[in-house]
Amino acid sequence: MEAPILPDSQQRRVPILRDVAALRAALAGWRARGETIALTPTMGALHAGHVSLVALAKAKADRAIMSIFVNPAQFAANEDFGWYPRTFDADVELFSAAGGDAIFAPPVEEMYPQGFATALQVGGPAAASLEDRFRPTHFSGVATVVAKLLNQCQPDVAIFGEKDFQQLRVIARIASDLDFEAKIIGAPTVREKDGLALSSRNVYLTSEERKAAPALYAALVCCASALRGGAAMEQAVAAARASVEAAGFTVDYIEARHAETLAPVASTAEGPVRLLAAAKLGRTRLIDNIAV
Ligand code: PAJ
Repeated sequence: MEAPILPDSQQRRVPILRDVAALRAALAGWRARGETIALTPTMGALHAGHVSLVALAKAKADRAIMSIFVNPAQFAANEDFGWYPRTFDADVELFSAAGGDAIFAPPVEEMYPQGFATALQVGGPAAASLEDRFRPTHFSGVATVVAKLLNQCQPDVAIFGEKDFQQLRVIARIASDLDFEAKIIGAPTVREKDGLALSSRNVYLTSEERKAAPALYAALVCCASALRGGAAMEQAVAAARASVEAAGFTVDYIEARHAETLAPVASTAEGPVRLLAAAKLGRTRLIDNIAV
């Protein structure tokens, strides 16, 4: 999504806070006026999906703060930390145009200073044998940074996308287990017209791969509707896998799980059921999910 083009005088640019002291000062000013605060954690490279989270944040609280931090702790050594897209100036424009109030964008040394030695160990939905099977250290890194952000900001609400469905469940779990006061709110996945879920990583797709990419969501839609129509789960999921493979993907997983616990389910009667998938197109790994 393009930021609206306004004359310079009308461009509204939000404050950019680089350390926890500046963050807390801004938050204290708002709190003193009795304003409520919504936090939207991101790694930047903002797209319309992130912008939809800001709109929800503004609907749920007086002030919307976004963190932009490419968190090294959630990337394994063989992953894309080094070349993860970084588009900070465009992010500031988009967030400002969406009505956000401040950006917290700390350098790595602010979040992980010399001597930092703590990591959360996460179970339950973080050990569901979905993303964690392929990215075994990922959710500990996500949980650690999100716990830090919730503690630094102490927001009334924190907004996360259903696009990363297992992540949403992991964060709800840690917020409950560690007694964070913030209400964790999930937001629906924003998609391209052809169904592809918006993702900062979609820029990695070649034009050929981009054409094939919507097949992942299409297979999930088809599978969900077959299941709603009474199809047997094993066959419906196998058919989805076959059609995703036929489109050129290498499938990591396509699974039907309980939408709350992420435990395996054998039929929709054990529901509510969520279909979750991860698959690679060339070097790009896409994830998606859908309610049944
Ligand atoms: P990031 O991938 O930047 O995503 C930030 C938030 O945007 C997440 O809550 C994600 O689920 C949501 N999001 C991404 N694509 C979306 C889409 N198409 N529609 C709706 N929401 C979407 O997820 C992370 O960053 C990190 O793991 C983070 C939670 C910030 C911790 O570092």
